[in-house]
Amino acid sequence: MIVRPVHAERPDAGVIAEAAEIIRRGGLVAFPTETVYGLGANALDPEAVKRIFDAKGRPSYNPLIAHVLGVAEARETASTWPASAELAASAFWPGPLTLVVPRDPLVPDIVTAGLDTVALRVPSHPVALALLRASGLPLAAPSANRFTEVSPTRAAHVVKGLDGRIDMILDGGPTAVGIESTVLDLSGSEPVLLRPGSISHAALEAVLGPIRTGRAITGEAARPSPGMTDRHYAPHAELRVLPPEPGSARAAFVGRAKERGAIVGGLVLGTAVPGIDHPVQMPPDAETYARQLYAALHRLDELGCDVVVADEVPRGPEWAGVRDRLARAAHTD
Ligand code: TXA
Ligand code: MG
Repeated sequence: MIVRPVHAERPDAGVIAEAAEIIRRGGLVAFPTETVYGLGANALDPEAVKRIFDAKGRPSYNPLIAHVLGVAEARETASTWPASAELAASAFWPGPLTLVVPRDPLVPDIVTAGLDTVALRVPSHPVALALLRASGLPLAAPSANRFTEVSPTRAAHVVKGLDGRIDMILDGGPTAVGIESTVLDLSGSEPVLLRPGSISHAALEAVLGPIRTGRAITGEAARPSPGMTDRHYAPHAELRVLPPEPGSARAAFVGRAKERGAIVGGLVLGTAVPGIDHPVQMPPDAETYARQLYAALHRLDELGCDVVVADEVPRGPEWAGVRDRLARAAHTD
């Protein structure tokens, strides 16, 4: 596996050409986007896309996002291009918004898990755009982590999870947004928000009118999407989200964990309670918190934490994406 450092704003053309050649040959390249690192393959080549599922250990009923260079390329990948997609694309692309639209037959079943819709996104990261331009192909790219593990926001996180399983990593430094894109389904009669992210529900409604929130559908109809309900984005440690108020359940939880000899990490918003071995002070604003969240979880895993206690985040709508990721990381069954 090759790791190539690349300038985040002005990626070296030679390095991008090398990565594009791997993509054209059916290989796997991890690359930075503004949200998290993606694991990319030629979205039009079913065998290349199969390698993504194998490298990640991801079940095939969970569909992938196809990344495209612009609206023109998105339209070629969709069978119809709803007026709402045009509006959303002009307001938020390139950027951290994924649109689910009816798919063109040129998109293989393996990308969409057999659904008749496809998830499309034009990323804003210069390295992602350079790779799309140089390869001349749509790139199927889920987050570049093993299935159910924490998404990568740095190249080192990708190395940790996928070393030896992929062909190349483009290391463009830490990603800016830090949590995965907002996913909006525009394939039905009304828009449905499937995954919250840094582009808020309110920002989308300002452009599109009322939007309800819903659940992702997957190729296996009876089965809920792992991205939506299963334990996902999860650190190895058991994560608990608890209110930070003094005298709350948090101190008792930490006390019990210490009694059984656990190494305890913390995502701290207020003051850390005694007994947390590795408290990580998190920023008080949602945007910076999101940027740092996955790196903090990766770090606490590396420190061998058995338990991580995360202070509950504020209730405001700007925290929706972070709240969603914490809830999924904490989900166990
Ligand atoms: O920020 C991101 O979106 C990152 C970067 C790499 O672009 N990618 C990412 O991909 O998070 P992934 O595969 O981890 O998440 C894709 C999400 C899943 O929740 C999946 O269920 C949903 O998009 N999805 C994909 N195709 C869909 C479809 N046709 N209908 C409904 N949901 C779909
Ligand atoms: Mg993922």
